[in-house]
Amino acid sequence: MVTRSDFNKYILPVYNPAKFIPKKAKGSYVWDQNNNKYLDFASGIAVSNLGHCHPTLVKTLNAQSKNLWHLSNVLANEPALKLAKLICNKTFAEKIFFTNSGAEAVEGAVKTARKYASTNFSNKKNEIVAFNDAFHGRTMMAIALNGSKRMTEGFGPMPGGIKQHPFNQVDGLKKIINKNTAAVVIELIQGEAGIVPAKKVFINEIKKLCRKNNALIVIDEVQSGVGRTGHLYAYEKYNIKPDILCSAKGMGNGMPIGAILTTNKVSKAMQVGAHGSTYGGNPLACSVSYEVFKEVSKKSFLNSVIKKEKLFISLLNDLNKKYNCFTAVRSAGLWIGLELNSKIENLTLQNIMSSAYDEGLMILKANNNTLRLAPALTISEKEIKLGVKKLEKSLSRLL
Ligand SMILES: Cc1ncc(COP(=O)(O)O)c(C=O)c1O
Repeated sequence: MVTRSDFNKYILPVYNPAKFIPKKAKGSYVWDQNNNKYLDFASGIAVSNLGHCHPTLVKTLNAQSKNLWHLSNVLANEPALKLAKLICNKTFAEKIFFTNSGAEAVEGAVKTARKYASTNFSNKKNEIVAFNDAFHGRTMMAIALNGSKRMTEGFGPMPGGIKQHPFNQVDGLKKIINKNTAAVVIELIQGEAGIVPAKKVFINEIKKLCRKNNALIVIDEVQSGVGRTGHLYAYEKYNIKPDILCSAKGMGNGMPIGAILTTNKVSKAMQVGAHGSTYGGNPLACSVSYEVFKEVSKKSFLNSVIKKEKLFISLLNDLNKKYNCFTAVRSAGLWIGLELNSKIENLTLQNIMSSAYDEGLMILKANNNTLRLAPALTISEKEIKLGVKKLEKSLSRLL
């Protein structure tokens, strides 16, 4: 048997996982090696939107595994074509490029935006505007977009041409988005920062300036996409049409898949040989993702997310009245940020997470002062109530 100490022995120490090792999962529950049961308010990190080992997805993956695993992009495959067609039917997109992860989608999105600018305007139009506290992944371009010392120190030199601006600050946008801007890369709701929504005035100003300067809008919905916010994608709520959208996480419910969604107009800049990915669009992940999209894009499914959000938030507000532990309870669908007040902040997020594990509850953190909840979108009302009780016990034990 392998144990947690094997992690320290064999795995690059960039993570510090919990002491227990999960072994199996079903729906909203996870069991560890010792058969301890956990209610899952994390879904990976907003990934398993249909719950663990969803029966349709298991069936689909089993069936596909007997037919075709891989052939390379020298050949097209049916699952990828079916999935691309479905996503184009359900969103603004007219062209899709499949990736294996969110960061790979961001990387390809920036390449596409720069290629569009250089093809249609000039090589000088190459600047990318990104925002403080954003998170776009861990590749070189993705950490450069974040720009913070915490993410970039020791990894330089960083890719150039990136301009940082404070998130939600309208002042100064006019100067930073100019004729040299190829694209603005933005999360409409910053996930890793603690579920922080962009203000509508901020988005409207970006929209206006991008249009004026022929700059593309690249929306990173790696975490917010595929039903998490109660919309198939959050851009629908913001009434903004992206030129390029990055998706991943929830797309495969745990199968590694991401995508760049874009328009016919933008896609013309990307010709044969301009980009690629060995596993991007592989039949296994695409067959599962097709079933995910079919389910999540149903209006009734998305409405159920909003309904459960209301219950969740009212229970969390009640909890907060009792303990006064959060300065803010923020949500976008079943994506919730609980900002800790100073009374409890010194407990450290790690302690709160450990205490939750002891109560049989899996939760997440975001930023350095926020608890993040992202349960399966299929979670039942009973499980929400049970989980909030477990959260209360984990907090009250520490307080
Ligand atoms: C908004 C956003 N973009 C990009 C990424 C990177 O995705 P991945 O870890 O799949 O590379 C993440 C991951 O958390 C994310 O939240």
